Amino acid sequence: MPAEPQSILSAYATTHTAFLHAMGEAGTEALIPLLALSGTESVVELGFGTGATLVKLKSRYPKLRLSGIEASTEMKAIALKRLRFCRLENSISLYLLEETGSLPSLHTDLVYAESVLGILDEKSLSQALALVHRILKPEGLLYLNDSIWLEDISPEDIRRINDFCQKTLGIPQCNEQFQGIEKTRAYFQQHGFNMVRHVNLDPGMTKLWHGTTLRERCSKLFSLFGKYLAAKNRNTRQKIVASQKVSGSIFEPGKAYLCGTLMVFKKSAIPNTPLP
Ligand SMILES: C[S@@+](CC[C@H](N)C(=O)[O-])C[C@H]1O[C@@H](n2cnc3c(N)ncnc32)[C@H](O)[C@@H]1O
Repeated sequence: MPAEPQSILSAYATTHTAFLHAMGEAGTEALIPLLALSGTESVVELGFGTGATLVKLKSRYPKLRLSGIEASTEMKAIALKRLRFCRLENSISLYLLEETGSLPSLHTDLVYAESVLGILDEKSLSQALALVHRILKPEGLLYLNDSIWLEDISPEDIRRINDFCQKTLGIPQCNEQFQGIEKTRAYFQQHGFNMVRHVNLDPGMTKLWHGTTLRERCSKLFSLFGKYLAAKNRNTRQKIVASQKVSGSIFEPGKAYLCGTLMVFKKSAIPNTPLP
């Protein structure tokens, strides 16, 4: 599982790191307009990490019925602290994966996940998609921000890089199912999701957003506080520095391997299974 205590994600929880996905905060800012929210929908974030996107969405759409699902107890604990710090703890519900049995089926308008599905192994990925399929309303929407492999990367390179990342960081780089749009589309179709749109994230998007709410500023302060605490903790500091060194050695310099991609899927029938 990617959320094991020894994975680098554990150190990122300690440092309150926000926007751990393709293009960071700019990736989230590119995702939000795509969600095309009216503001009262029932929305679930899968794999909310330290909770920064939850704060961003709820502060911009106060009437949203917003919940989050996480696999890691450490991440959930930090996200809860962030929500408390931003005075949002009573307006967003957080669940651990093992608590999702209590979530009603067919009640969610929209699910989004940023850099979550790509780091799952085949079994966890199928289970996550089955959960999303169960809670979404018929024709409900799934939005992803994931880095997917470019089509010309060989299966051997993908396996080598994933093995290396798993060994050194405790998480793979990206599931081999997510390679190029067509293969990714076909994979999701088998799990009951039709791709309706995809957008390549572009590094030119880094300054896309305009202003932030007071709660978002509190959230940024909370992230900074995590960095300050981490700077004082030798163990965490060493882990982060070591992971940065490893990250710098994963790819051949000058060669592109992955593309940050926003993808929109509509829930459909799982092949051979009628919709409930
Ligand atoms: C790379 S982090 C991204 C966190 C957050 N979405 C962000 O962008 O900052 C992936 C997150 O997914 C969580 N996760 C892993 N497997 C999961 C699963 N099956 N269901 C929900 N969350 C999961 C991890 O614990 C981690 O917090």
